[in-house]
Amino acid sequence: MGLLSCSISETITPSLLFFFLFCFIGFATATFNVTTLAFDEGYNPLFGDGNLVRSPDGHSVRLLLDVYTGSGFISSRMYQHGFFSAKIKLPSDYTAGIVVAFYTSNGDVFEKNHDELDIEFLGNIEGKPWRFQTNVYGNGSTNRGREERYNLWFDPSKEFHRYSILWTAKNIIFYVDEVPIREVVRNDAMGGDYPSKPMSLYATIWDASSWATNGGKYKVNYEYAPFTSEFKDLVLDGCAIDPIQKFPNSTACSETDTWLESRDYAVITPKSRSAMRRFRQRYMYYSYCYDNVRYPITPPECAVDSNEKQRFRNTGRLRFGGSHRKQARMERARRKRRSRAAAVSDDQTDM
Ligand SMILES: *[C@@H]1O[C@H](CO)[C@@H](O)[C@H](O)[C@H]1NC(C)=O
Ligand SMILES: *[C@@H]1O[C@H](CO)[C@@H](O)[C@H](O)[C@H]1NC(C)=O
Repeated sequence: MGLLSCSISETITPSLLFFFLFCFIGFATATFNVTTLAFDEGYNPLFGDGNLVRSPDGHSVRLLLDVYTGSGFISSRMYQHGFFSAKIKLPSDYTAGIVVAFYTSNGDVFEKNHDELDIEFLGNIEGKPWRFQTNVYGNGSTNRGREERYNLWFDPSKEFHRYSILWTAKNIIFYVDEVPIREVVRNDAMGGDYPSKPMSLYATIWDASSWATNGGKYKVNYEYAPFTSEFKDLVLDGCAIDPIQKFPNSTACSETDTWLESRDYAVITPKSRSAMRRFRQRYMYYSYCYDNVRYPITPPECAVDSNEKQRFRNTGRLRFGGSHRKQARMERARRKRRSRAAAVSDDQTDM
């Protein structure tokens, strides 16, 4: 996070006071000490090969979406715990209907009971900022979405920013640059819902016209194609396992686990914890933890923060978000959604 990202965010962030505080904390946080990989050292194309363009030095890659196909890549190996990270620049201008996803999953290996950790960027109409969501699934818990949705304090299509997922046996941390934005601490009551099996890292760009922007109201407009996302400074830290070995034995990764848990990105300092608190109070606009309509019993891993909670209604949506007209529209949409027993992906309506 540098001077540039702070000055860009000024156009988006209404509260200047908060903005200065946030930037101050950003400057005070050192960048992670990581070793980056060339694309071919750790990844393979996944789909849309013609739309995956490596840089001449092999250290960065562009994923394109055009009218024919999106594209994606996958880590060559699976990891039992790890730090998965990349600097990403998102497509600019009109990006409605587009999703750029950076996530870990083992859905190809465990079709019925897969694990998954998501960062999904949701495109928007011209002049409106990208938003993003994080999600956690374990052992096939796809009917128990654990989404949170957020705005960013900068324009992610202007500069590269680092996005990361840390997964250990103890906790999961999602990062934007060096700011932890969400921590899920493992809790016995979560049972299999806490990811436990080896996962691969995926990065994809695809057409999600049916839900990504205002619940599918705005589709991908291919007059603006190709849409280009860029990935560089790729990091895969963790215990790489033999793909045949679906369940590594308990000692196979213990040394790497100890090493992983001692890294700078595995330690939330008091300073970065207060940056996380500020981020969440300022930029989070939906959390399943406060959605008592969907989850009458608060899921066991939710650390309910009273300051956070008072911002949300019992639907997990912001209490004071947008105009009354917009809220009325949202309320109508919500009633409609509830009456047809909404599936998870229906829940992406504008908020
Ligand atoms: C995960 O799912 C499988 C298959 O549904 C089940 O047999 C197993 O007990 C589950 N594991 C946990 C930890 O819940
Ligand atoms: C577990 O895996 C490690 C490393 O692959 C191996 O050295 C060890 O013998 C294995 N232990 C058991 C009990 O299979």
